[in-house]
Formats: sequence, C-alpha cells, structure tokens
Amino acid sequence: MHPVIIVHGGAGDIPDSRVQGKLDGVKAAVLTGNKILQQGGSALDAVEAAVISMENDEYFNAGYGSVLNLCGEVEMEASIMCGKNLDVGAVTLIKEFEHPISIAHKVLTDSPHSLLGGEGAKLFAIQKGFATVPPDSLISDNAKHALEEFLKHREFGRTEIGVKDEGGVGTVGAVAIDSKGNVAVATSTGGMSGKAVGRIGDTPQIGSGTYADNHIGGVSTTGHGESILKYCLAHSIIKLIERGSTAKNATEVAVNAMTSRLNNTAGAITLSATGDVGINFSSKRMAWAFIKEAKLLYGIERDQIFEA
Ligand code: GLY
Repeated sequence: MHPVIIVHGGAGDIPDSRVQGKLDGVKAAVLTGNKILQQGGSALDAVEAAVISMENDEYFNAGYGSVLNLCGEVEMEASIMCGKNLDVGAVTLIKEFEHPISIAHKVLTDSPHSLLGGEGAKLFAIQKGFATVPPDSLISDNAKHALEEFLKHREFGRTEIGVKDEGGVGTVGAVAIDSKGNVAVATSTGGMSGKAVGRIGDTPQIGSGTYADNHIGGVSTTGHGESILKYCLAHSIIKLIERGSTAKNATEVAVNAMTSRLNNTAGAITLSATGDVGINFSSKRMAWAFIKEAKLLYGIERDQIFEA
C-alpha cells in the first residue's frame, strides 16, 4: 500500500486576510504527517503529528488560536480513531494543554475509556506527563476579535451559506493510510465562538467528527457542530462508501444532504481504504491538502486545485 495523507484546516466563511495563512498551514501539516508515513511510521502517528502542526498555528481554530466561549475562555476538544481495531480516544473541555490531540491519542492507547472530559481529562493528562500551560497563553487576538463580533448578534447558525461567521468555526483534521494499509483519523477544535461554557460539539463524538475503519476508509469533518452531530456526518460518509459510493461521491452527497436538511454548513475530508480521496464543503471555503503518489495538491475555494 502506498501511504496517503489528507488534512483540512476548517470549513467556514474564511476572510480573505486569512486565506494564505491557512493554505501555508495545511501544506506544512500534510508534509509533517507525510514525513512520518514515508519513514514507515503509523497512520495514527502521522495524523497526530499533522494535527499538532495545526494546533500550533494561530491560523487554525485548534490548540493555540482556538475560539472562545461566552466567558472568554478556551475549551478544546479532540478525537482520534484507529481503523485496524476501531480503537478510539477523545477529550473535551480541555483548557490548559497545548495539544488536545495528543491527550486523545493517550486515551486511545492507555485508558479503558473512550472519551474523557473536563477535570477528569486534566487529571488523566497530568498523570500521563502532559505539562499544563496558562489558559490565557492559548488565546490569540483573532479569537478575541471573533468573540467580540459574535457578541454583537449572539446568533448561532450564522454559518448558513452566504452569511459571515467571523472565523468562529474551523476545526482541523487529518486522515491517513500507512504502508500496512491501516487507516487513522484525528480531529481537533476550539469549537464555536461564543459557545456556552461546557458546550460539547461534534469533534470528540466518534461518528460525527471522526471515523476510521480499515475495511472502508476514514473521515474527518468540520463546520457547524450541532448539525454535524445530529447527522452523524463522518459515519454517514463511511456508510455510503460501504454501500459502494466512491470517496468523492459519498463526501459530496452526505455534506449536501446535511446542509439541506439542517440549513447549516460543513465540510469533510475522506480516504477510502484503497486511498481514493474525497473533499467537499458547503461553506464558502475550506482549506485542505493531500499527498498521494509524491504529489502535494491543495486548495481553499470550490473547484480549486493547486499543485505544490
Ligand atoms: N465543528 C466544530 C464545532 O462546532 O465544535
């Protein structure tokens, strides 16, 4: 099996001023994950590394740069899934750690549970040796600005087609297949700008934000969390592939069906078990990049494909 890796940097009404930063960030992330795959590393390690790259980058709503809840705090979530045995790890309501995806990976490998939240997730992370950071050190100027803009209208669901979301959504994710044919998916987010304290979205919920199965493929989603989780978007795409759709068609059909049913937007990246790629978004923009057969392709607008 030739390794393949694809990443996304979040779907939404991304302002022009943030397009180049997002494109640079998804290219850096996919190269980081691909390096691990080319050295014979696992898909799980590759997707974690790609997501860490975007959690470090202020241009993405994950890790540093995560959007803020109504009290002006960062509350992050992440999930990771191994397609070989369907093992999962997820965390939510994380406030004091730089890399929620690494804690989620540790839940997958070291915990009898699948999803840890809040104080329990913090305790687990500290026991596993993760260092805490001051919560304010994760707050970017862009996140403060997005909350200020949200507070002017306080309306969720302004992610409908054509309505600006002020950068308030935009999860990151990665899907990879390694040389052994193992599929893995990782997704990480700060959630939605202006969310209630304690709100949990789609990203840590397996089947909504993340799904991987070696027999079918892998999906990471982004966009309006409440809609994605009602529609179980990642698993909907997986089921369409299982029934014979291509990755491209399954991603397009499920994203559009969710959007027309719930009137909110989303995006998804997909790999089938054989390495076919699917990319679709109903939002204005979604940054993505993939490497397959030594070619790096990327884009952010509809019907746009650049080769690096
Ligand atoms: N998809 C990110 C969120 O709504 O939490």
